[in-house]
Amino acid sequence: MSAPLVAVLNGPNLSRLGRREAEHYPALTLAQLDAVCAAEGEALGLRVVCHQTEAEGELVALIHRWGDEADALVINAAAYTHTSVAVRDALLCVAAPVVEVHLSNPDAREPFRRQNLLRDVVRASICGFGVDSYRLALRGVRGWLGDGNA
Ligand code: DQA
Repeated sequence: MSAPLVAVLNGPNLSRLGRREAEHYPALTLAQLDAVCAAEGEALGLRVVCHQTEAEGELVALIHRWGDEADALVINAAAYTHTSVAVRDALLCVAAPVVEVHLSNPDAREPFRRQNLLRDVVRASICGFGVDSYRLALRGVRGWLGDGNA
């Protein structure tokens, strides 16, 4: 049996990692973050695909596609976390379980980041651990899907 498939979806401005607000974000690039996710997935016995988009509609389409094709989603919707009813509604119409991740802790930043339109429609949220937010999310997903040794 092939390893479970997990899609990691990243939203706007995460393409700028490595040259974005060093006080909030790690120095690594998005390509390096994708590589971290792939390596963590491999160590956990998961197949990981990573996608990033700047566009709200494209993020909705990625959620539809991978929410049907993958066994679980890890999503950092970035700024759309705080604004997008469309992203929220997309998460509500896919079967795959979803972990929401953030590199920083949005609740500890500007007040407008405390509005989170996704938190109550995802199964879990992890924030504030930098790159480890993604590693922890993948570990949590591994637990949801079983340890692979059953
Ligand atoms: C972010 C936090 C959001 O508030 C922000 O808009 C981002 C990144 C994070 O990973 O910490 O773009 O999702």
